[in-house]
Amino acid sequence: MARPRLALALFLLALCAHVHVLPVWSHGDTGSTGAACLRNVGVKLQASFLPGLVTIDGLAADWSSVSGSSFQLNPALTDDSANAYPGGSMQIKVAHDGHDVFFLVQVPGAYMFDANEQNMAAMALMFPIGDDATYHNMGGCPEPAGVCNSTNCFGHEVDLIHFELNQAIPGRLYGGNLADSINGTGRDSIGKLNDAYAFNPHCRSYDGMTPSGLLTGGGLNNWRGSWTHSTTDTAYGLVATDSPFGALDGAGTYTFEFARPLRTSDVLQQDAQFTIGSTHGMAAAFWFPTGANSGWQPYQHYSASCDWLQLEIISGASSSIGTSRSWSALSTVSLLVSLMSLAVAVAVGWWVRQSTGSRVSFNPISSSL
Ligand SMILES: *[C@@H]1O[C@H](CO)[C@@H](O)[C@H](O)[C@H]1NC(C)=O
Ligand SMILES: *[C@@H]1O[C@H](CO)[C@@H](O)[C@H](O)[C@H]1NC(C)=O
Repeated sequence: MARPRLALALFLLALCAHVHVLPVWSHGDTGSTGAACLRNVGVKLQASFLPGLVTIDGLAADWSSVSGSSFQLNPALTDDSANAYPGGSMQIKVAHDGHDVFFLVQVPGAYMFDANEQNMAAMALMFPIGDDATYHNMGGCPEPAGVCNSTNCFGHEVDLIHFELNQAIPGRLYGGNLADSINGTGRDSIGKLNDAYAFNPHCRSYDGMTPSGLLTGGGLNNWRGSWTHSTTDTAYGLVATDSPFGALDGAGTYTFEFARPLRTSDVLQQDAQFTIGSTHGMAAAFWFPTGANSGWQPYQHYSASCDWLQLEIISGASSSIGTSRSWSALSTVSLLVSLMSLAVAVAVGWWVRQSTGSRVSFNPISSSL
C-alpha cells in the first residue's frame, strides 16, 4: 500500500510543480506572446454557507461579517500594472445559502453618467465551463469570428455575467425576466444584466443565441443583481426619472451584488455549474468610462487577476460544528421548559380535582342569568 501512495504523492507533487512553471498569459488575444503572468494566481475566494444574510439590493452593509479579498485592477489585455485602474482596488466577497451563490463586488470610482452613452461603469464575472476553457482569450478557442461554433470550440466555453449600469435603477433587481425568458435567451433587455457565454473574445453571445447572432432558444438568464453608488440615496426609493442617480463625478464606491442558483437547467454548455464542497474557476472585470463621461470599448476593461481565481463553495456541514453546541443548549432549555409546564399542568389538574370534590360547586351558566 505504501508504494502506490508514495508514487501518487510524487506524481501529484510533479503535477503541482508542472502547473506552477506553466506560463500563463493575460486576457488579451495576442496569441502566445507576452510575459508569464502570475498575478493573484491561486487566490481562493471562499463562499461560506450563510443563509438569510444577504439581500440583493446593491448595498453592502449586510456583508459586514464576511471577509473579502482585494485585487488591484490591471488592464485585462496587457496586465500592465503601470496602467492599473487609478480609482483603487476591487473588493470581492462571496457566500452561498445552499441554493444560490452570492457575490459582492465593490470598486471605488466617481459617479459617471451620460444619457447618450450606454457604456458607463460595467461589471462582469467569468467562469470556466469546458475542460479546455482558459482565462487567456476568454476560453481560448482558436477559431475566428464567423467560424467558431459550439462544435469546433467544444470544451472552450466560458460563462459570463455582464452588467451595464445606465438603464438600471440603483437598488432594483435586474437579470432574468419574463420577456427574455420566453425568447429563451440570457439577454436582459430591461436592465442590461446579461447572462452570456464565449469561446474567445470574438465569439461571445447571450445564452440561447449563437455568436453570429442567431436565436437558438433554450437559454435562460439565471442571474439577478443590483447596484448602487455611494452617492445615490436609496432610502426613499428611486424611479427612472431620478436618473442620473448620483452627483456627477461624485467620489465614492460602486457596489454590485449578484446571485445565481448553484445549478441551472442549461443543456447547451453555456452556464457554469457549481457544487457545494467544490472549487471552481472565476474572474472579475470592470469597465469604466475613460474620458470625462465618454464610454469604453469592450476590450478596455480591467481585471482582478491574469488567470483563474479560485471560488470554493464551502459545505454547511463544515461550519455547523460551531452552531451545533448552541442548538443543543437551546434544546436543553426547551426540554426543561416543557418538563416544568408538564409539572405545573399536573399540579393544577390535581388541585382542581381536589377542589371540585370539596368546596367549588359547578354552576351551569343558565342558572346564574
Ligand atoms: C461548426 O462549424 C463547422 C465548420 O468549422 C461545421 O462543420 C459544423 O457543422 C458547425 N457546427 C454547428 C453546430 O454549427
Ligand atoms: C424576442 O424575439 C423576437 C423575435 O426574434 C424579437 O422581435 C423580440 O425583440 C425579442 N424580445 C426580447 C425581449 O428580446
